[in-house]
Amino acid sequence: MNRTSNEDIAKAFNKNARLYDRWMNFFERFIANGARAWAVSRAQGAVVEIGVGSGLNLPLYGPEVKHLRGFDLSEKMLAIARRRVTENCIARVELHHGDAQTLDLPSGSADTFISTFTFCAIPDPLAASREAYRVLRPGGVFVLAEHGRSTRALARALMRAIEPLIIRVSAEHITRDPVPYLASAGFSITEVQRSGPGGIVFQILAYKHDTSGNN
Ligand SMILES: C[S@@+](CC[C@H](N)C(=O)[O-])C[C@H]1O[C@@H](n2cnc3c(N)ncnc32)[C@H](O)[C@@H]1O
Repeated sequence: MNRTSNEDIAKAFNKNARLYDRWMNFFERFIANGARAWAVSRAQGAVVEIGVGSGLNLPLYGPEVKHLRGFDLSEKMLAIARRRVTENCIARVELHHGDAQTLDLPSGSADTFISTFTFCAIPDPLAASREAYRVLRPGGVFVLAEHGRSTRALARALMRAIEPLIIRVSAEHITRDPVPYLASAGFSITEVQRSGPGGIVFQILAYKHDTSGNN
C-alpha cells in the first residue's frame, strides 16, 4: 500500500524531526548539492513555502522576498523552524500548521511558491499542484528542488522495490516525478534540470499562465 495520509506525514516527521537536519545535511552534501540554494534564490515578492519543515531555507531568503508564509503538517518540524526564526532574528516570516493540498490563502495572492524536498512526501501531489496554481498570481512561479526516480533502469527498479519500506519509515515516495502533476494542474514548465547520481535530483521552474500577456 503506497498511499499515505496527512496523519502518516505528521506521524513520520514528528518521529524523525530530531534527526532531520543531520540527515538532510548529509543528503545535500553528497547528493543534492546546490539544489536548495538554487530554489531559494528564485524566490521574490510574496512567497509561500509548502512543507517548510525545520526551516532550513528560512535564513537563505534574500531581500527580494517581501513576506514569507510557511506551512507544514508536522508540529515537531515547525517547532524547530520557529526556533530557527528566533535564533536568526528572521523577519517577514509567518509559520503555520497547514496542508499544502488545501491552503487557507486567497487565490492569486502569491508571487512565488517554493517546495524543497517536500513534493515527494505530499499524499496527493496533484491536489497540491492545483492548490499552488490557484494561490499563485498569473505569471507567478512554482520552484521545486526535489528527489525522484533515477534515469537508469536498474536503479529505478531498485528504487521501486524499496519504496514501500521507505514510505513506511519516512512517508516519502522516492520514485515520484513532479513534472506530470505540475503539467496536469495547468503549469507551463520552463526548466527541468536533473543532477546527482542517476539524475535523481530535480530542479524545476513551473509558471502559471498570464493571460494578460505580461509574462
Ligand atoms: C523532507 S521534508 C522537507 C522540509 C524542507 N522543505 C526542507 O527543504 O528541508 C518534507 C516536509 O513536508 C511536510 N509535508 C508533507 N506533506 C505536506 C502537506 N500536505 N502539507 C504541508 N506539509 C507537508 C512534512 O511534514 C515535512 O516537514
